[in-house]
Amino acid sequence: MKITKGIILAGGNGSRLYPLTLGTSKQLLPVYDKPMIYYPLSILIQAGIIEILVITTKTDINKFKTLLGDGTNLGIKIQYEIQAQPNGIAESFLIGENFIGSNNVCLILGDNIFHGDNFFKYIKKAQKNLHDGYSSIFGVEVDNPENFGVINLDNNNKLLRIAEKPKNPKSSLIVSGIYFYTNDVVNISKSLNLSSRGEKEITDINNYYISKKKLKLNLLDKSISWIDTGTYSS
Ligand code: G1P
Repeated sequence: MKITKGIILAGGNGSRLYPLTLGTSKQLLPVYDKPMIYYPLSILIQAGIIEILVITTKTDINKFKTLLGDGTNLGIKIQYEIQAQPNGIAESFLIGENFIGSNNVCLILGDNIFHGDNFFKYIKKAQKNLHDGYSSIFGVEVDNPENFGVINLDNNNKLLRIAEKPKNPKSSLIVSGIYFYTNDVVNISKSLNLSSRGEKEITDINNYYISKKKLKLNLLDKSISWIDTGTYSS
């Protein structure tokens, strides 16, 4: 039987937070009283996902190993891989190919914080969707959609397309940094061309699933707070 494995992507150089991130990883910075990565990790654990791969940089991998170890203390299994260059979020599925094996996968970005009692309800729905052969994304309303993957819906609220950081966003609804994918995501990632910024884009994966009518949108309600910690203001 397929299980859902978890990947936390904690790569990148956090340049928008310099000088804080010159000497350490963004995902190790404190958010209140815990390192940032604890938040996405606890979301995966809440989702019942206990086999987790942390993908990070060559410089930071040993710091994450010191912090989290092999997960035994938390009753989970944690493995580590390096993303050598910031080649895009979708590269996670290539780096994690052996780890994913024949299973489904939940990817969460290491700098995304979701907070709210109800969040579990959405995760359960995404797990059910996987069981039925559908992948899931999680939509949030924001004031600055141009900085994210922007969701375009038709009049019946059906997914039409996602635009990555468009100059003129068609809506204020954006894709947050947690994704549940069926196992074919590994092969889809392999077939992706690099975008104009030289990355394998997660948005291209989502648009592929939309074109096959295999992507479900979970709209997060106002009781869930979502923070992308990429900049000082956010
Ligand atoms: C990435 C994705 C974008 C998504 C965002 C969520 O943006 O490319 O589609 O809305 O994460 O945090 P990036 O972190 O590359 O700016």
